[in-house]
Amino acid sequence: MSDEAKASGPSTVGRGDDPADGWFPESVATGYDGPGGANAPEVVTPAVDVLEDLADGGPVLEFAVGTGRIAAPLAARGVAVSGIELSRAMAARIASKPAGDAIDVTIGDMTTTRVAGQFSLVYLVFNTISNVTTQDGQVDVFRNAAAHLRPGGLFLVEVGLPDLRRLPPGQDTVPFTVAPGREGGGYVGFDQYDVVTQEFTSNHVTVTPEGKGRFFRIPFRYAWPAEMHLMARIAGMNLKYRWAGWDRSELTAQSTKQVSVWEKPPSA
Ligand SMILES: C[S@@+](CC[C@H](N)C(=O)[O-])C[C@H]1O[C@@H](n2cnc3c(N)ncnc32)[C@H](O)[C@@H]1O
Repeated sequence: MSDEAKASGPSTVGRGDDPADGWFPESVATGYDGPGGANAPEVVTPAVDVLEDLADGGPVLEFAVGTGRIAAPLAARGVAVSGIELSRAMAARIASKPAGDAIDVTIGDMTTTRVAGQFSLVYLVFNTISNVTTQDGQVDVFRNAAAHLRPGGLFLVEVGLPDLRRLPPGQDTVPFTVAPGREGGGYVGFDQYDVVTQEFTSNHVTVTPEGKGRFFRIPFRYAWPAEMHLMARIAGMNLKYRWAGWDRSELTAQSTKQVSVWEKPPSA
């Protein structure tokens, strides 16, 4: 997965974190909204443009809404936004953002949690489908999305594509960043794949100039675009768009991520 995808994982887990917050506890939430990277306007605005357009004036629901990185600017445009989020620490940041207090947030697991209402659009961005680490769980996400949609409503997923084409036979590991520090030490990041279960881990090794090291890994599961299409079919939805990014460009063999959209049949 790309460097951008790595940004979806925490860099540290601190003492005092609530285990119920999963991989995104207080020690991660506190640094999540830093400037640049995924929070840069040139990253956020194109996503919000597409989501506003697909919402078509109706209410939307973000699965794994996090700190409202996307939900708040969408709400600021007048879209009625609800969210489901596992981590209280992440969700606690939403209300203080402009228009954040208009977002109706439910703490829960997006594989099972239901909120009231029928939505024009349910969306799940920033690789977070991969945080559900079983195929059954990912199918449950699609089913739960469909259950929240009005007839003709849309489900959008943004997720990086795994770097499997960089995996030579007999090897299970792909480095994504090797960055020696100027003063010594440095950082090495790599993904390790199980191509049978499609589970993988992103691994982060940081060594200080003094030689003190930290090794951190976070589990994910990848699913190919075709597999997600089947998950959508299982959930009773049909493919509407398959893009390589928020610019709505065509998904090709060279693409590094997909932004795909499925529709609940208008007659459902
Ligand atoms: C990479 S962050 C994305 C947050 C937000 N969507 C964004 O784009 O900034 C992943 C979020 O998914 C949440 N999450 C992970 N698994 C979840 C699940 N099963 N149900 C609900 N939220 C989940 C995490 O707590 C975290 O806030």
